[in-house]
Amino acid sequence: MTILGIETSCDETSASVVENGTKVLSNVVATSLEMHQKTGGIVPEVAAREQVKSIIPVIDEALKRASVTEKEIDAIAMTVGPGLIGSLLIGVETAKTLAWVWKKPLIPVNHLYAHIYSVFLESGPPLLPAVCLIASGGHTDLVLFKNHKDITWIGGTVDDAAGEAFDKVARILDLGYPGGPAIAKAAEEFCNNIQYSIHNNQLKLPRPMIHEDNLDFSFSGLKTAVTRLVSPTSGFKLPASSIAFEFQEAVIDCLAQKTINAVEKYKAKSIIVGGGVAANTALREKLGKSAGNLCSRTQVQNIKMYFPLLKYCGDNGAMVASAGFFNNNPAKDIFSLEADPGLHF
Ligand code: KG4
Ligand code: ZN
Repeated sequence: MTILGIETSCDETSASVVENGTKVLSNVVATSLEMHQKTGGIVPEVAAREQVKSIIPVIDEALKRASVTEKEIDAIAMTVGPGLIGSLLIGVETAKTLAWVWKKPLIPVNHLYAHIYSVFLESGPPLLPAVCLIASGGHTDLVLFKNHKDITWIGGTVDDAAGEAFDKVARILDLGYPGGPAIAKAAEEFCNNIQYSIHNNQLKLPRPMIHEDNLDFSFSGLKTAVTRLVSPTSGFKLPASSIAFEFQEAVIDCLAQKTINAVEKYKAKSIIVGGGVAANTALREKLGKSAGNLCSRTQVQNIKMYFPLLKYCGDNGAMVASAGFFNNNPAKDIFSLEADPGLHF
């Protein structure tokens, strides 16, 4: 089955052609990132205006690169939410129109589910049950994935999303946008620098909620702690890279600890990580180490780790097509489908 996946929930405009939920024939992503770099964050109207211009060329290019025509497309899958309303509307209304004109089934997809399915792309199915950590700019959630019909939310952030915290702290430290890659780069530079050994023990940020007996996160306090640190009255004179390093450690400590707690609680066989923050190398390493420790502590043989390929960590149409294939539930009446910016798991 060949599905055209359409994704426009944030600032990306993406279309992909995917066969049987895993084989990516094309994946075209247009982004208005450069415009948002000038403003230090996404301006929803700017993103939506760019998406109106790029949606049709992006879909055309996806079909062209996959060497298929609309006749060979069996269904269209599109993100209905959560996301920015102006951006979602463009993908949803375009997909509805194409489905009507081409007479194809239309499969609505929850963007958060799609991030889970990014690990199915170009690889075999993961070992289940899995604990999934979805960490992006708008969401940080833990879900238990038993099978395609049984995916349950088990915890999440009570305030800022992990990616949002990276973006906000990068802005405070003047490291640029998007904050995740900027902080990761500064932290790596710090590790490779002699300053690392001098400053490493001087700075300790809190690990909010890490010892609480739940599967929740809180990241807004970290942002406040960093703001205090850099204020002229703080008495600290630490390089931005040192703060970036410790901030990243604090976030990934929390993400890894609660994910491992969930694995232990639900006796999961694997961990799936999705969303923009899944691109973070330090997080990947920390989760691998923590899973190894859990195995030796509990004498579990192995916990498999699944990370998306880097090109599928950020928002893309391929993960939407994959989620649509594995949860093939086409709309009965395509015209009653609506964008849903507040959609949950
Ligand atoms: O999933 P995504 O592309 O869009 C949303 O659905 O939100 O995630 C974007 C988020 C941004 O906050 C960005 O700073 C973060 O993912 N991000 C990272 C890294 N690359 C992107 N965070 C930490 N480390 C990274 N390497
Ligand atoms: Zn996303």
